[in-house]
Amino acid sequence: MKKVHYSELGLVNTNAMFAAAMKEGFAVPAYNFNNMEQLQAIITGCAKSGSPVIIQVSGSARKYIGEPFLPHMAAAAVDLSKEIGLQIPIALHLDHGNSFELAKECIDSGFSSVMIDASHHSFEENIEMTKQVVDYAHQHDVTVEAELGVLAGIEDEVVAEKSTYTKPEEVKSFLEGTGVDSLAISIGTSHGAFKFKLEPGQEPPPLRFDILEEIEQLVPGFPIVLHGASSVPPEDIAKINKYGGQMDNTAGIPEEQLRRAAASAVCKVNIDSDGRLAMTATIREILSENPSEFDPRKYLGPAREELIKMVMYKNTHVLGSAGRVK
Ligand code: G3H
Ligand code: 13P
Ligand code: ZN
Repeated sequence: MKKVHYSELGLVNTNAMFAAAMKEGFAVPAYNFNNMEQLQAIITGCAKSGSPVIIQVSGSARKYIGEPFLPHMAAAAVDLSKEIGLQIPIALHLDHGNSFELAKECIDSGFSSVMIDASHHSFEENIEMTKQVVDYAHQHDVTVEAELGVLAGIEDEVVAEKSTYTKPEEVKSFLEGTGVDSLAISIGTSHGAFKFKLEPGQEPPPLRFDILEEIEQLVPGFPIVLHGASSVPPEDIAKINKYGGQMDNTAGIPEEQLRRAAASAVCKVNIDSDGRLAMTATIREILSENPSEFDPRKYLGPAREELIKMVMYKNTHVLGSAGRVK
């Protein structure tokens, strides 16, 4: 692994972007990517809409892409933004890092921000693992996100019963014990496209804004992160199902609730599934309507265009991050 500091790649950490998000009442988008087309779409959508952005990979996405590719892709992302005409702040972030070793490898290879997700461990172990990462990361001016509370998995019921909501009374001592820069909390979201199973006409249950507000009062001005924030648009699901897919009983987080979160202490909103759905719907349609097509550019190209539209829409109409970079 080649050692490189993120500043050499033109990246920034999340400090300044979160300070602006907190002051101005918007949320910075954190879009996951697994390949070149997704990354190009995220950067194009954010540069065109004047939004700062966090580009993030999970440990498994990093493996899929190949670790040596990532610093080059990040540097190319910075160049692409300049080429479009607006040099937006870009942070490269490790999503759901599960060990000190992985976080360290990422820091050493050009990441500007890392998450250490020890939320499944005991409170004390979570503090210990997080602090170890913070101590190393801060020596390199890299920002760290941790998590308190556990997000629900795929739910059988409308109410997110398996979610262990963040306990507000634990937050202050966790921040003091770790020195972490931002905190992911559990207030009723979950990962993936199947967040709630709803009967026809039923609405998803509201997020626990009471928990968020309590945390905001206990640690005013501290940046909060919302995971599992995809909306799972019914039109994408309908297209996927129309063209041979099978995704029944899906539901995501309503945009209105995300707007409310973005205006609060939530400074970072994580979106992965919606990007996957937008691309998959387009690819299914093209392959189904053009059965003899086999040139990847003919379906990945239009899928990339759809993802650009999705990013611009979210930045402009949901997260309020559009137009913040001039
Ligand atoms: O929260 C997890 C992200 O959606 C990434 O998931 O492990 O499939 O890359 P992944
Ligand atoms: P979604 O599955 O709702 O897009 O959540 C993504 C996420 O939280 C990545 O960490
Ligand atoms: Zn997540």
